[in-house]
Amino acid sequence: MDSITAFLSNIVENTDARTSEGGSPSPAPRARFVAAHDFPLMPVGQACDMGHAPDGTPLIDPRIFNAPEFFRNPYPYYKIMRDHYPVFFDKLHNCYYVTRYDDITTCYFDDEGFNTIPKGSSSGVLGNTQLELSGVEHRRRRNLYGQHLVGKSLDNRLHAIESIGEEMIADWDNLDESIVQDRNGVRSVAIGRAFANEFPIRVVCDVLGFPKESRKKFFYWYNSMMSGLGGSETHHQGLEARQDLEDYVGTLVEERRAHPTYLYDAAGNPIGKDIISKLCETQIDGDYLSTEEITSNIALVVGGGGETTRGAILNMWYLLLQHPQQLEAVLADPETMWDVAFHETLRHSTPIGGQPRHNSFDIELHGVKIPAGSLVNMVDFSANHDDRIFKDPEVFNIFRPDLYSGKLLRSGYRKEGRCSHMAFGVGPHLCPGAWISHQEAVIGSKILQRHLKNPRLNVDKMPKDFDGSLMPIGLISAKEIWIDYDLN
Ligand code: HEM
Repeated sequence: MDSITAFLSNIVENTDARTSEGGSPSPAPRARFVAAHDFPLMPVGQACDMGHAPDGTPLIDPRIFNAPEFFRNPYPYYKIMRDHYPVFFDKLHNCYYVTRYDDITTCYFDDEGFNTIPKGSSSGVLGNTQLELSGVEHRRRRNLYGQHLVGKSLDNRLHAIESIGEEMIADWDNLDESIVQDRNGVRSVAIGRAFANEFPIRVVCDVLGFPKESRKKFFYWYNSMMSGLGGSETHHQGLEARQDLEDYVGTLVEERRAHPTYLYDAAGNPIGKDIISKLCETQIDGDYLSTEEITSNIALVVGGGGETTRGAILNMWYLLLQHPQQLEAVLADPETMWDVAFHETLRHSTPIGGQPRHNSFDIELHGVKIPAGSLVNMVDFSANHDDRIFKDPEVFNIFRPDLYSGKLLRSGYRKEGRCSHMAFGVGPHLCPGAWISHQEAVIGSKILQRHLKNPRLNVDKMPKDFDGSLMPIGLISAKEIWIDYDLN
């Protein structure tokens, strides 16, 4: 299990610990962890003392990476690393961390020197996907279905995203009390379970071309494969779900090779084959993709597009509701400001912490020798909070002048004092789902805005930090947020 995967499996455990059903304050997450060293929980923004070198440089004890303190309050530790150990060798987990924005950008662009092979236990569940490939082989597979995730094709499908969102909200009256509660003209809704958890999956299911009746199974595949990524005891469930998905896709592939299916615009005109039908007719070196390859592509789109967008929507609402003036500015100018809020959310609290790479050759970076084949973690969380790039990085500020929030470019953006965030990566593996997830988060939020009159956080139902304040997002996307709104 590589350290990022270990990192994710810890996240899954900690996510469970953070939000208890019904929203009552959770027990301190500390109880769920077996940290090798008892690090104290610190006020957010301050690092605990792990000792100092003779010259006064603060030390990093790698056991901190498994501690609850790090999950809720990682940024002061990343700052120590950026300032004093821009390449940190973690002896305990036997890997390296690269933490500065500029270094991470350079490494992402060098996909010969820093390859993505192997991704660890995710390969068993997702299969051999373009994520694991580099160079020519990666480039040949990169654009198999990208068409539906960007540009005109996607523009023509925005109506479908919109109806999926409206359909979900129309169903709120039928949800039980653990998700929607009405009292004295005020409705409290658990926005994760009522909306954000499933909305991105339904969109992905639609664009892939899965029949509507497979939706229920789709959630089973998705949930099992996601929890199976951790390499933990749930791994075998992930493998079983993958096998089940592959069997289902096998039948679908035969049907679609003979009778491809299409996606339609709002007027009912076909705008192109859905992703599954497209994959069925794709050839590489004269051979059709096998069912296994098609399943891996589907698994990657599902795995890449669900949890991430869910986290982005919840984090965005959680942060805005805690900054009422910024929320007001967004609600007053939704056409412009949801886009801006989306980017600042991804900078401040991205759902994906970073990406593992393996260096193909011996290298030396900032005086640290990294032998060929080492696991090198690019910490996107830290790049997004690098104060060499973003002023007051811990502050959530949708008005910040130093963040580029225009069209995403593979080359990133760094001009006139503005830089892109690192949430979608940069370079050859830049997330091809960036634009569709942006559209989902923005369209979904505009729909929520239309339905939620005077939205505010139901603080009583939210998990608390050890000092009674609201739980910070830290390394884990908000799992659930309870919003109150006026019914009349
Ligand atoms: C807020 C939402 C999202 C975030 C933060 C995110 C983040 C990322 C990141 C950081 C990578 C780069 C991986 C690397 O460098 O190794 C990536 C790759 C990828 N993402 Fe996303 N993603 C999001 C949404 C989506 C969606 C909605 C889809 C599909 C519908 C998607 C599909 C993919 C795929 C297929 C790749 C692999 C690209 C390649 O290796 O060339 N992602 N994503």
